[in-house]
Amino acid sequence: MRHLTDPTDITRKETDDIVALALDIIANREKYSEVCKGKKLATLFYEPSTRTRLSFTAAMMELGGNVLGFSDANSSSVSKGETVEDTVRVVGNFVDIIAMRHHIEGAPLDASMVSRVPIINAGDGAHAHPTQTLTDLLTITRELGHLDNLTIGFCGDLLYGRTVHSLIKALSRYEGTKIVLIAPDSLRLPDYIKHDVCEKNGIEYREVSTLEEVMGELDILYMTRVQQERFSDKAEYERVKDCYILDAAKMALAKEKMAVLHPLPRVNEITKEVDADPRAAYFRQVENGKFVRKALIYTLLKWAEEGKESLHNHEAVEVEGLVCPNKKCICNNEPVDYKFQLAEGGVYRCLYCSTKAEEK
Ligand code: CP
Repeated sequence: MRHLTDPTDITRKETDDIVALALDIIANREKYSEVCKGKKLATLFYEPSTRTRLSFTAAMMELGGNVLGFSDANSSSVSKGETVEDTVRVVGNFVDIIAMRHHIEGAPLDASMVSRVPIINAGDGAHAHPTQTLTDLLTITRELGHLDNLTIGFCGDLLYGRTVHSLIKALSRYEGTKIVLIAPDSLRLPDYIKHDVCEKNGIEYREVSTLEEVMGELDILYMTRVQQERFSDKAEYERVKDCYILDAAKMALAKEKMAVLHPLPRVNEITKEVDADPRAAYFRQVENGKFVRKALIYTLLKWAEEGKESLHNHEAVEVEGLVCPNKKCICNNEPVDYKFQLAEGGVYRCLYCSTKAEEK
């Protein structure tokens, strides 16, 4: 069965097809208004959300289907200690497809391994957010007309920014992608994205420390929020929270055709004056999220009916003496065995969260 727990769960062609379907849905809304009649989506949200949960809900309603679920895990039997695996085994009796957000990394992948219905990762901790990536790809397509030969600046919290990790994975499959990373030292992009994604795919990337020095060369500026909720050291959050603020003066340095994206919510990293700039695409990006989730739900349900197999067999290994050191990984929070995959440079990485394995 096909799930979407990571951008690499679908091929580049399938990704393009989903974006193309979203464009067709935008152009022909009536045509798709009953294609999911009789189908049900569960939204299992263990972590707060506005855009993702409500756009999934609106998407399924506009396809003629129904939605149930929870937006606060404390109101479910999770509060009694029910595991992710048991929860999806149960909910799979009631619905045809599940969208799950979780603060624990790897929870949607763990869920997909026992689920009888497709699982969509709606964001897992600081790890991945593949439906935001589809939203971003649709937005770039609508704003600039193409996904090849783009120079993209990622700015802000690149360490915990799951939307950044997933978008870099997806863009690494397009010709001529160049990446510029703009972050304070303590919020730099994780090594596994640099090595196993950028270097492995021959993607040019460089790290800089100011927005001003790169504004003029960017086709896309992808701003992110410094995520207070991911910091264990509050003093460090206070130190870096205001490090990059996009304002009209910085926008004056940018290309006329550049687009500013942001997964939102924002705090203060984009000033309100930028909202009126035609290059500010972040509110248009929100609506694109609904269209692309319509395309994704429709596609995954069709693939489930066709019995389409997963691209991965998750050829994971259990290596004696190795553990995942990430305290926020599913394998350190629920009764899930450590599993690893051999990655670039001969290192073992956790199957669920991609963290480098360590000796026990
Ligand atoms: N972009 C995004 O994931 O927003 P929410 O947290 O509001 O869902």
